[in-house]
Amino acid sequence: MEFSVKSGSPEKQRSACIVVGVYEPRRLSAVAEQLDEISGSYISNLLRRGDLEGKSGQMLLLHQVPNILSERVLLVGCGKERELDERQYRQIISKTISTLNETGSMEAVCFLSELHVKGRDTYWKVRQAVEATQDSLYSFNSLKTRKEEPRRPLRKIVFNVPTRRELPFGERAINHGLAIAAGINVCKDVANMPPNICNPAYLAEQAKQLATKHDKVSTHIVNEAEMEELAMGSYLAVGGGSVNESLMSVITYNGAGDDSKPVVLVGKGLTFDSGGISLKPGEAMDEMKYDMGGAAGVLGAMNSLAQLDLPINVIGVLVGCENMPDANAYRPGDILTTMSGQTVEVLNTDAEGRLVLCDALTYVERFDPELVVDVATLTGACVVALGAHATGLLSTHNPLAHELLNASEQSGDRAWRLPLWDDYQDQLESPFADFTNLGGRAAGTITAACFLSKFTKKYHWAHLDIAGTAWRSGANKGSTGRPVSMLTQFLLNRSGQEQGE
Ligand code: BES
Ligand code: MN
Ligand code: ZN
Repeated sequence: MEFSVKSGSPEKQRSACIVVGVYEPRRLSAVAEQLDEISGSYISNLLRRGDLEGKSGQMLLLHQVPNILSERVLLVGCGKERELDERQYRQIISKTISTLNETGSMEAVCFLSELHVKGRDTYWKVRQAVEATQDSLYSFNSLKTRKEEPRRPLRKIVFNVPTRRELPFGERAINHGLAIAAGINVCKDVANMPPNICNPAYLAEQAKQLATKHDKVSTHIVNEAEMEELAMGSYLAVGGGSVNESLMSVITYNGAGDDSKPVVLVGKGLTFDSGGISLKPGEAMDEMKYDMGGAAGVLGAMNSLAQLDLPINVIGVLVGCENMPDANAYRPGDILTTMSGQTVEVLNTDAEGRLVLCDALTYVERFDPELVVDVATLTGACVVALGAHATGLLSTHNPLAHELLNASEQSGDRAWRLPLWDDYQDQLESPFADFTNLGGRAAGTITAACFLSKFTKKYHWAHLDIAGTAWRSGANKGSTGRPVSMLTQFLLNRSGQEQGE
């Protein structure tokens, strides 16, 4: 898909389709008004006859509008003018793109980027439009033998901006949007890949491939033999029941020379989580292929970062592993010695994410990190608390928490903070080991983060629980590509890149 920006007047456009907004009830946007005038009130007459009310997401495709140079005009309902918010803006763009893609326009000039969205500038509107476009065009069909593709797909879209002065902001928005969307696609592709193909070795392969594409990226794979040497007793125990070797991929992006401390991103990479001996119930168990969503998100963000060529140092760690029941599997009651030396009594083998992450979080101390963010589909409790809309954010460092919340707000990839008070730590007490891996039913997301916090004392740390946000269930099942957008925004902000006006 090719994107560009320009600043032109609607009646001068000569394109396969020109896209303009109509507000509810039957009110033309400024651009639609201009088209209406030169077409001799063709559009307003249609509205008067009731063809389009202007409700958000309504579409009306017109052909051969009098005096208009473009072949088609697509009228897009934008709802009430004062109520147009960020979510609606993205939805309108997505719907527009699917409509264009299915109705034969291979190129279009879109004026929706000029709509007023409260508090948002041209940079934001164009970037979101690029991301929403790429999101709605995504499909995972590499394993289908018959691929359905539109006969005349949309190939080129021009977003119009109100003034020439805003062109540079629009261009930057396209670059950033494309890099983020590319990372999101990488994330979706690996996350959607089935667990018989996407195992820890497959994750490691993706990590290595990134290094072949970018000079500033190198990858090191830690295998089980090296994990033994490192005494990663907890991580190794979780993979014990699987025939697929646990592999931890360490991706280094050097964008700022050797003197600058790295930002470290750690992603949970359970390529399948059956629960192990504490086996999960059968319903929707297939969705546990998405238990590597954290690793997929980190891999996606590393891709975006490399494409943006940001002047910072970042290390991404994919904690690859598979949790299976087997004669060699670890069991409830086992006491594990973690790489940190602390001991853990296993009360439920399905609370495995924290057991692989804790050793990875100890491992990354060696990088003397500026900060560490781990990303994990860690708890079902997070889905109960926040649903599919917000990622759970927990942190022991307020400035870092605020930085991440800002990035989520800017990118539209929402997160919500939960407390991490010491009061919750008691739920992890064990009679036999330093603590257990299970905090009981109450506050499951928080006690999981409490567990991790016992391994992150040596640096600034935040934890993202993406259990509810990483994938969609139901008819439209699939990876969402979250939280690539938020993470990349965080890195953009950290590297001091200018964005809007
Ligand atoms: N990967 C799951 C968490 C999960 C469950 C994410 C459902 C998304 C949807 C994790 O490994 C897990 O099984 N967690 C347990 C923890 C419990 C045993 C303390 C959970 O949330 O039930
Ligand atoms: Mn589990
Ligand atoms: Zn899991």
